[in-house]
Amino acid sequence: MKKSTDTVNNARRRILGYGLRGAAIAAGGPLLWGCSDDTPVDLGAGRAPTGPSDPQTPPASPERCAPANLAQSPRGIHVSFTDDPVRTRTLTWYTDGLDDPGSQLEYGPVTRAMSAEDIACAPFPGRIEGSAEQAFGTNVLTHAATATGLDAGLPIRYRVGAPGRWSNVKVLAPTPQGPLRFCHFGDHGLKQASLAVLDGVRERNPDLLFIAGDLSYANGDQPQWDTWFDRLAPYASTLPVMTAPGNHEEEDNGGKAYRSRIRQPGQNTRYAMTYGNVHFVVSTGGSLLGNNVVQDLDLVAELAWLEIELAQAALRRAKGEIDFIILVQHYTLWTDQEGREPASPALVLFEEDKLLRYGVDLAMVGHDHIYQRSKPMGRGLPQENGYIQVTGGSGGVGLRGFAPISEWSAAHAVRYCFTEYNVDGKRLTATTWAVDNEDNTLAGARLNAIDTFELRSRNSDERQLFARPGRSELLNADQTQAMLRHTRERNALHDSLEAISRRR
Ligand SMILES: [Fe+2]
Ligand SMILES: [Fe+2]
Repeated sequence: MKKSTDTVNNARRRILGYGLRGAAIAAGGPLLWGCSDDTPVDLGAGRAPTGPSDPQTPPASPERCAPANLAQSPRGIHVSFTDDPVRTRTLTWYTDGLDDPGSQLEYGPVTRAMSAEDIACAPFPGRIEGSAEQAFGTNVLTHAATATGLDAGLPIRYRVGAPGRWSNVKVLAPTPQGPLRFCHFGDHGLKQASLAVLDGVRERNPDLLFIAGDLSYANGDQPQWDTWFDRLAPYASTLPVMTAPGNHEEEDNGGKAYRSRIRQPGQNTRYAMTYGNVHFVVSTGGSLLGNNVVQDLDLVAELAWLEIELAQAALRRAKGEIDFIILVQHYTLWTDQEGREPASPALVLFEEDKLLRYGVDLAMVGHDHIYQRSKPMGRGLPQENGYIQVTGGSGGVGLRGFAPISEWSAAHAVRYCFTEYNVDGKRLTATTWAVDNEDNTLAGARLNAIDTFELRSRNSDERQLFARPGRSELLNADQTQAMLRHTRERNALHDSLEAISRRR
């Protein structure tokens, strides 16, 4: 799919004209500018697009890690949203050891009058004292701070840390007010393909990235989380990243590492967020149920929350406040990956009942290490007015094969890949980009579009049809027990299969 000229120009306009040097922008690399405190600038999200749509500019050469050059320097810096995505940004980072060096975030707008030296060296008008807590199971502190009162439409410069231990100055693009672009994959890990997928995402230069669970595959080895965030930081310190927890997050004591290292709205593990004209609802999909940390009632409460969230979103869509409703979670509802059955039939039944009742447009999921896109579907069959499921568990950790392909499937592939979604008003176009060669090797591979589809927002009659009241009485006792039993069985089966494969 060719990116629209308007979209490319919008992305360029986000940065050009704000005093940054064109050559450095075109190269996509860091701007280095000497300052009194020797603070360099990382120019990240909001670069002019590179890659296939713009052959004049070579792809960025990302940092492979963020080495700490001073004791307790910030590491693993990443941007997320915990509040209004236009006016706020949350920064999270880590320091080694349990002595708290401070959790400061300094920030300010990048205005048209600023030179590159200004951006790197000028005093910051805003400073927030954040918070620190011990990351689960390790002598590392998680620091977090939220910048508020941001100017809509202006890039943001920032640094985190404390006096004597500042990060590089980094520049964030503003949240788009018009067309927007986000990417999705799941099942990431620390493989070469994991980095290739991140490189591919950076080449497509989205505004936002969703990772649909199974992030670090630490599986109880807590330092692996630090390695994963170190690798993510060159991308995520300038590109907002939002996540859903997967079954491998459950392996860190029911998701305790995930909770202690990631900052997101609401419950953190489940939340909703409106970004432009898209409302995202992020669910655990029951992935954290498996020990005594996450209680049965948490999943029952989550289903009630999901009902209310989707009912409210459908009402907002009927009023014209949003155009698309997207569910994000780790687990697939339906899959053709070989050997993945049985799933959790009762949970899928209850979730899908809500997706169909409130007209969810799209489900972005992971877990199965394949790429598969459905036709509009419901209850395991193609269904007009149903939802489209995009399974992107192809984010780098490994690949699996397929069972016979079902009637609901529209596209499938065994490739390392991610999916890019462009939303322009009531039209969503998506392209899935493979980052490997056809034999799944990586050497010499370039981004290759392996699937495209288009989704129109629902018309006014459909919007009214799906604007239904939320239901307070959802499950009887027998249904609840069946749902919990199936989910525990599903999760235990995956845990045991993973343990067997790790022993090999
Ligand atoms: Fe996975
Ligand atoms: Fe998984």
